[in-house]
Amino acid sequence: MTGLSLKEIRKSYGSVDVLHGIDLEIKQGEFIVFVGPSGCGKSTLLRMIAGLENITGGDMYIDGQLVNDVPPSKRGIAMVFQSYALYPHMTVYDNMAFGMKIAGENKQEIDRRVRAAADSLQLGKYLDRLPKALSGGQRQRVAIGRAICRNPKVFLFDEPLSNLDAALRVATRIEIARLNEQMADTTMIYVTHDQVEAMTLADRIVVLSAGHIEQVGAPLELYERPANLFVAKFIGSPAMNIIPATIAEAGSTTTVTLTGGKSVALDIPTAASEKGKSASFGVRPEDLEIASGDAYLFEGEVSIVEALGEVTLLYIEGLVPGEPIIVKLPGTIDIKKGQKMRFSADRQKLHLFDAEGRTYRR
Ligand SMILES: Nc1ncnc2c1ncn2[C@@H]1O[C@H](COP(=O)(O)OP(=O)(O)OP(=O)(O)O)[C@@H](O)[C@H]1O
Ligand SMILES: [Mg+2]
Repeated sequence: MTGLSLKEIRKSYGSVDVLHGIDLEIKQGEFIVFVGPSGCGKSTLLRMIAGLENITGGDMYIDGQLVNDVPPSKRGIAMVFQSYALYPHMTVYDNMAFGMKIAGENKQEIDRRVRAAADSLQLGKYLDRLPKALSGGQRQRVAIGRAICRNPKVFLFDEPLSNLDAALRVATRIEIARLNEQMADTTMIYVTHDQVEAMTLADRIVVLSAGHIEQVGAPLELYERPANLFVAKFIGSPAMNIIPATIAEAGSTTTVTLTGGKSVALDIPTAASEKGKSASFGVRPEDLEIASGDAYLFEGEVSIVEALGEVTLLYIEGLVPGEPIIVKLPGTIDIKKGQKMRFSADRQKLHLFDAEGRTYRR
């Protein structure tokens, strides 16, 4: 059975088009993450799935049923927001039980579900407390628990962890991953700006930009085989280095000339007609290494050293003025600002995009 099916979904506010025809099939039990720049339409799409925004065009199906005109309460969906919106005068228990009480569930069933949700979120000992006596992370877990109690078919999260500090984010992220395992049949759709959350939680990531889908795929698929320049730059941190280039030789392998004049051979085929065209050459910061021997990809001068302990980031000036190449090296290394260095990369790890930003596939 299909979990969720979006066909040509459009949204306009007055004359402003926000979503331009979203097609997406989501399987039951899948964990889908929406990412994209601020304002690209992630929350709008989530709210349309929840039924909190009407649909300007297209069709939406949940479990095979057309839900365009089905009210939120009848969709079998629960949503957790960035601001947890708990009732301040109610205990944790009552906050979690409230929706079921309104729905007229019997007391025993309410109690069973509240305790089960509290158990799975490690909230058991806080059931009698008021929200003001909880930390931010605990409050967000109550909001998640309240949603679990509704026994949803589809669970929507809109940046649920963005108000939490770094340590709580990690802890709560792990709770959500565990929850996803326990609720294997429940479809989850999760919006985040956090790369680690997207990469670790998602079965598939949907990359959105300006109201359309750029690519849908498993996290590592997007990382290793981005469909275009937008996805290549969006997935991965720090972002992929992009260097303007010209295609010097096309064929079963391709040679490009980078800005600055250096020639680079890539194991990527291009059609003969591509010769002479402008392109973008890409290499991820973590795929660069200090060159040993005479062969190198580029050279430049270290302008900034960021020692993060686990990794060292180097900003190298020399190719495109004012646009340093970022190099991410493991561990701590003794490198000084002003040092001249050469870097190389495995040929398999190089990327090439055409003038429209589409990937030249291997
Ligand atoms: N009620 C509204 N009326 C008019 N425009 C709106 C309304 N709600 C959202 N928008 C516009 O729709 C676009 C998408 O907004 P949305 O909140 O979905 O973005 P988002 O991807 O969730 O961004 P963020 O990452 O900042 O949360 C934005 O340009 C926004 O200004
Ligand atoms: Mg949003």
